Amino acid sequence: MQTKKYNRIKEMIGMIEENISLKNYNTFGIDATAHYFARFRSVDELSAHLDFSPPSVSPNSMPILLLGGGSNLLFTKDFDGLVLKNELGGIEKIREDEEYVYIKAGAGVNWHQLVIHCIQNNWAGMENLSLIPGNVGASPMQNIGAYGVEIKDIFFELDAFHLKEKSVVTFNLEECEFGYRESIFKRKYNKQFVILNVTYRLRKVPVFKTSYAAVDQKLVKMGVTELSIQAISEAIISIRQGKLPTPSEIGNAGSFFKNPEINQHQFESLSNEFPGIIGFPLADERVKIAAGWLIEQCGWKGYRKGDAGCYSKQALVLVNYGHSTGAQIFELSESIVASVKDKFGIELEREVNIM
Ligand code: FAD
Ligand code: EPU
Repeated sequence: MQTKKYNRIKEMIGMIEENISLKNYNTFGIDATAHYFARFRSVDELSAHLDFSPPSVSPNSMPILLLGGGSNLLFTKDFDGLVLKNELGGIEKIREDEEYVYIKAGAGVNWHQLVIHCIQNNWAGMENLSLIPGNVGASPMQNIGAYGVEIKDIFFELDAFHLKEKSVVTFNLEECEFGYRESIFKRKYNKQFVILNVTYRLRKVPVFKTSYAAVDQKLVKMGVTELSIQAISEAIISIRQGKLPTPSEIGNAGSFFKNPEINQHQFESLSNEFPGIIGFPLADERVKIAAGWLIEQCGWKGYRKGDAGCYSKQALVLVNYGHSTGAQIFELSESIVASVKDKFGIELEREVNIM
């Protein structure tokens, strides 16, 4: 009876697959298995998938993983639940005023494709975020950022689907509670919402952000005499390609750890002991420390054990050279955390979501 019901629901939904390898769905290239796997291209499909519960699992107790581009995840074991791959598409200009255009994108749209689309239309604000892997839906999850710009700087609002209540809620900038690689969806509302679409507010007349020395130097090297959002995007793509591994060649999820924030007093005493330490002043007398430097000083840069390693051009990036398991990469990250703690007294926090 139960099995009949289960098969009927499976048939009705039509697209729930079993025992699917996630190797091609995460940029670390970890070969973990999803017990159940389904894609959705509409809220109705998402809602139908959420009704699915096999006979062995009591209704509404199945673990759910929302999957975008899989570029900020490390699978340390198989996922014994339902992986829902977000494929909600569409890019639309919903309105404009004198200064801004408002661009709404489906959560399943590839981030860099959206950036290219906006640059081609001369809508400014995303260019510093060029070439970040992943999809639109994850961009507000952890307030993605690079080269002086974060999502919060261009964010207008988003629609999200409440998994239990099955209703759509709109969140504005304030309600998202963005922080450094943080949002309300990683904290208070962790695992409660599916982000369906995001609306960004982009400028008709650009305000160029070239405060990062590396960007400025690259523009000079490229011979750029007149700034444009295209030129900034090209400079940033070139910088990124020079130091970050391409996931299709070497598995990785970008920065594995966050840059830690310490107080001014701690920074001064560390600077006395380690004069080369790299810190960027923040508000409230806090200082952001370059975690890549800390890790490099502990001797990890270029380290490799089996297929798990610490990237030779950027110590903040852990890599899978082919057949590493997620558990091996996690183990390496534990050793790195311990040695940084030991040498500098700083506890590194992981940026990557550990599954
Ligand atoms: P996934 O990895 O699929 O998911 C990440 C988390 O968000 C998971 O917890 C998932 O469940 C959740 N999630 C995904 N979609 C939704 C949704 N629609 N609704 C609710 N929850 C959802 N990040 C930066 O900030 N700056 C960088 O410069 C940067 N550079 C990178 C460079 C490389 C080479 C790589 C591999 C990664 C880099 N990253 C960077 C990290 C990564 O690209 C971002 O975190 C990206 O936003 C992840 O998107 P995704 O679609 O792949 O998310
Ligand atoms: N550094 C070292 N050794 C290293 C790596 C870096 O000494 O092995 C030093 C660099 O010389 C530089 C400083 O650390 O002085 C900062 O390095 P970098 O500019 O490469 O940036 P990052 O702090 O390592 C952060 C983000 C990146 C983002 C870049 C550019 C975090 C956790 N990471 O990296 O985001 O692209 O700045 O803005 O904040 C990501 O989140 O996945 C990510 C890649």
